Amino acid sequence: MEEWLEATLSLGARTAYGMHRNEVLGPAGEDRSSEIVVVEDGLRFEVDVLRGRNVGLFPDARPMRRWVRSRSTGLRVLNLFSYTSAFGVHAAAGGARSVTNVDVVPSALERGVRNFRLNDLPVDSRTHMRSDAFEFLKRAGREGRTWDLVVVDPPPVPTVGRGRKGKGRGRFDPRKDWPRLARAASAVCAEGGSVVLLSAARGASGFEELVSDMIPGVPLRIDRGEDYPGPRDQGLRALAWARAET
Ligand SMILES: C[S@@+](CC[C@H](N)C(=O)[O-])C[C@H]1O[C@@H](n2cnc3c(N)ncnc32)[C@H](O)[C@@H]1O
Repeated sequence: MEEWLEATLSLGARTAYGMHRNEVLGPAGEDRSSEIVVVEDGLRFEVDVLRGRNVGLFPDARPMRRWVRSRSTGLRVLNLFSYTSAFGVHAAAGGARSVTNVDVVPSALERGVRNFRLNDLPVDSRTHMRSDAFEFLKRAGREGRTWDLVVVDPPPVPTVGRGRKGKGRGRFDPRKDWPRLARAASAVCAEGGSVVLLSAARGASGFEELVSDMIPGVPLRIDRGEDYPGPRDQGLRALAWARAET
């Protein structure tokens, strides 16, 4: 571990942001890189600080990542809409038996691979899969594959996707696709396992009602954490269902 990081963590910091700049120099010698490595709970993530909201790690999901890490030991974890694999890194660090990250965008998966490597976590042909989430779930269902913990964190706004009339891969519309997504995710969750759904839509007060019929079990609400005080029903929050049939 670098000296700066060791020193910061030895002061008692659990999380350190913006500490290390990758050394990518432009032709005139100016530093053009906006990529840095940040540390969350001792884990390292590459972020691009000039990418607007999508820097690569969403701080409002930190309590959910901690929740996933604390429950992953020995489990087979499926991370759908994985983006930079932040949930996957936490699951693997938490001792998951296997982690499958699925996203439709190659550059997101590539960064996910780099995030795994930054943390010395194993990468193979099954850890990062390029696929439309719905197609992946359909195939997995057909093959009878199951996971013990399924994390579902799709985009908060409609995405058009690629393909004819926007009906192809990579499409998601949070206004109408949630019920079928929740149902398909629940179908690949092993009995006794858990499904975690994250809805980042602001004021999504009907979210729980929208999806709860699709997943057996009692939902547990995971808060946004101390960095985001305010009404509980605003902004990103997660719901986790135990898939037990009781
Ligand atoms: C909100 S981000 C996910 C954040 C991520 N779970 C995290 O923890 O940082 C949404 C991701 O969904 C991906 N995506 C959108 N539609 C998709 C689809 N139909 N199938 C698979 N991935 C999709 C996007 O490429 C993007 O990386």
